[in-house]
Amino acid sequence: MGGRSAEREISLKSGNMVLAALQRKGVDAHAFDPRDQSFEQLLAQRFARVFIALHGRFGEDGTVQGALEVLGIPYTGSGVMASALAMDKWRTKLAWLASGIPTPVYELLTPDSRAADVAAKLGLPLMVKPAHEGSSIGITKVESIEKIDVAYSLAAQHDGLVIAEQFIGGREVTAAILNDEALPLVRIEAPQGNYDYHNKYFGEATKYHCPSGLSAELEARIQQLALAAFRIIGCHGWGRLDLMLDAEDRPWFLEVNTIPGMTDHSLVPMAARACGIAFDDLVLRILETAHVG
Ligand SMILES: Nc1ncnc2c1ncn2[C@@H]1O[C@H](COP(=O)(O)OP(=O)(O)O)[C@@H](O)[C@H]1O
Ligand SMILES: [Mg+2]
Repeated sequence: MGGRSAEREISLKSGNMVLAALQRKGVDAHAFDPRDQSFEQLLAQRFARVFIALHGRFGEDGTVQGALEVLGIPYTGSGVMASALAMDKWRTKLAWLASGIPTPVYELLTPDSRAADVAAKLGLPLMVKPAHEGSSIGITKVESIEKIDVAYSLAAQHDGLVIAEQFIGGREVTAAILNDEALPLVRIEAPQGNYDYHNKYFGEATKYHCPSGLSAELEARIQQLALAAFRIIGCHGWGRLDLMLDAEDRPWFLEVNTIPGMTDHSLVPMAARACGIAFDDLVLRILETAHVG
């Protein structure tokens, strides 16, 4: 837990919740922060397995997974390739587009991109986001052509790779996956539809609906698509797919999170609870999916 990404604080929250759950379940569990401790120290403690509760770069992106592979220590969640691919929103979209998973139309932005062309292709509003960040960091909803450049500059502070994406105005849904099964969907209702960093972790204004309130038929269809989207990226164990529904209730997948939040506001624990899996049991179920190779 912890690490050195922009999402360090959230990771510490997730990690401490997971640690407490493991200890309540009688697991001889200990915290390890790769920002402050070396992998030699990890090896020296002879852990049987690792529950990775890191978010963002240097943790969710395949690097720590690679280190654990080399050390031969089983770890939870996706392997090296899927972790790295899922961390990259652009390449995730390429894989989904090639395999028929609906994802919003996009354009890569560079310093040479012409705002008018981007707006003509994607329409307004549009979303500008860094390809490798999480927690809504560096993301801007752009309402007018003149604001595209500012949004690009902000995203580019976080990342060399920036995408602009068609805005899907409609309901927001997230699909948790546990051990190759889709859990009940969670519908997210953020103030003014703005699910930003604050509304994700600190505000009390965001409402979460689980059961989602979608029709059983639509829910099942989205769950099936979410599982397909998860498998195409090569993900393992657990994860969470973020998507938007348009006005006609068509789903559009935004991204897959290979190490979703496990804080008290988090969505995977909410989805698990809705099908009778308490937080501590969820943590154990995830731990059981630990693998190597
Ligand atoms: N194309 C889009 N249309 C509408 N809303 C979007 C779109 N892309 C992102 N959002 C909003 O921004 C939030 C964060 O975007 P997301 O792609 O999931 O990145 P992050 O990794 O920061 O969670 C989403 O939960 C959603 O509320
Ligand atoms: Mg997201």
